[in-house]
Amino acid sequence: MKAIQLQSPASLDNLKLVDLPDPAAPGAGEITVRLRASSLNYHDYAVVKGMLPTAENRIPMSDGAGEVTAVGEGVTEFKVGDAVVSTFFPDWIDGDPPVGGFARVPGDGIDGYAVEQAVGPTTSWTKSPEGYTAAEAATLTCAGLTAWRALFVDGTVKPGDTVLVQGTGGVSIFALQFAKASGATVIATSSSNDKLMRLKELGADHLINYKEVEAWGPKVLELTGGKGVDCVVEIGGAGTLDQSMMATRIGGHVALIGVLTGFAGPVQTAMLMAKNLRVQGLTVGSRAQQQDMIAAINANGIKPILDKHFPLADLGDAFRHQESGAHFGKIIVDI
Ligand SMILES: NC(=O)c1ccc[n+]([C@@H]2O[C@H](COP(=O)([O-])OP(=O)(O)OC[C@H]3O[C@@H](n4cnc5c(N)ncnc54)[C@H](OP(=O)(O)O)[C@@H]3O)[C@@H](O)[C@H]2O)c1
Repeated sequence: MKAIQLQSPASLDNLKLVDLPDPAAPGAGEITVRLRASSLNYHDYAVVKGMLPTAENRIPMSDGAGEVTAVGEGVTEFKVGDAVVSTFFPDWIDGDPPVGGFARVPGDGIDGYAVEQAVGPTTSWTKSPEGYTAAEAATLTCAGLTAWRALFVDGTVKPGDTVLVQGTGGVSIFALQFAKASGATVIATSSSNDKLMRLKELGADHLINYKEVEAWGPKVLELTGGKGVDCVVEIGGAGTLDQSMMATRIGGHVALIGVLTGFAGPVQTAMLMAKNLRVQGLTVGSRAQQQDMIAAINANGIKPILDKHFPLADLGDAFRHQESGAHFGKIIVDI
């Protein structure tokens, strides 16, 4: 079977297409999946660029979707032919996060889904949403679930609330779609006026170009009549957190998700305290949360926004496209 391995030193030029032996038949409690698609996340980018060290010859990509081709002894949840999508934390079934870190995350601590076939425990998969293509399903593992958890697990977003989403990457566009489906008002930012117009078509109520309006926190306050938003889906990190806190209402929630402006930096802790804010870090979510999200998708018919497709062999080019920042939504790898 074909796979992509990240050879040493990690770089986009060292994503090599290789032939590997087909996997062994699934053992008890395992299934075999014929992967059909994956999608790019910033986390995958950090791995293949060497920002997050991983093992030599690691198969990258946390997200995978395809169909079940064999089931092992005792498996009742899946049958041959089922459309499935991978889980980000195969060992986190439900409840609180079991551990920090990425030691058991596909494409990082263990091999991922830039590969034609994978065998693993049933907990590495859930059913895909009804009517989804594999490419659509492959967007959910990381970006979809992160947005879902930010809004509805850690957050308490409800009709009439206001949500701020930043930029036009995978997490943020899912957050926009989920927030609109729940009856919230959405304020969306982007560095591009063209992309802002596309966000408007997706239902964004207010638009801010964060390059033109660098102090967008006060602008958000203005748009909300001085109150601030109920929830921010914060993907910038240290460089955007102060603006996000400024934009949030007293007692509101900032879901601290991303690191796009760096891994550390000064933060206005006095504002955090004075505004009684809840700033909560989060890493993706559990398998049960993924199943809840998929139930909501089945009920609402939400479809992900797909950007360009790349064949598996051109994974490096897919990451170059992501690196350029030209994308809107999810970049897909067809397997
Ligand atoms: N904690 C978690 O569980 C988790 C899960 C998924 C992702 N993440 C993190 O969330 C971030 C986004 O991930 P992704 O996969 O959605 O990335 P992505 O698809 O590559 O999207 C990146 C987009 O973010 C926007 N952006 C860049 N710098 C920005 C800034 N300073 N302010 C506002 N927007 C900015 C840009 O949108 P425009 O072109 O429109 O400006 C860019 O296209 C990354 O840091 C990633 O590591 C964390």
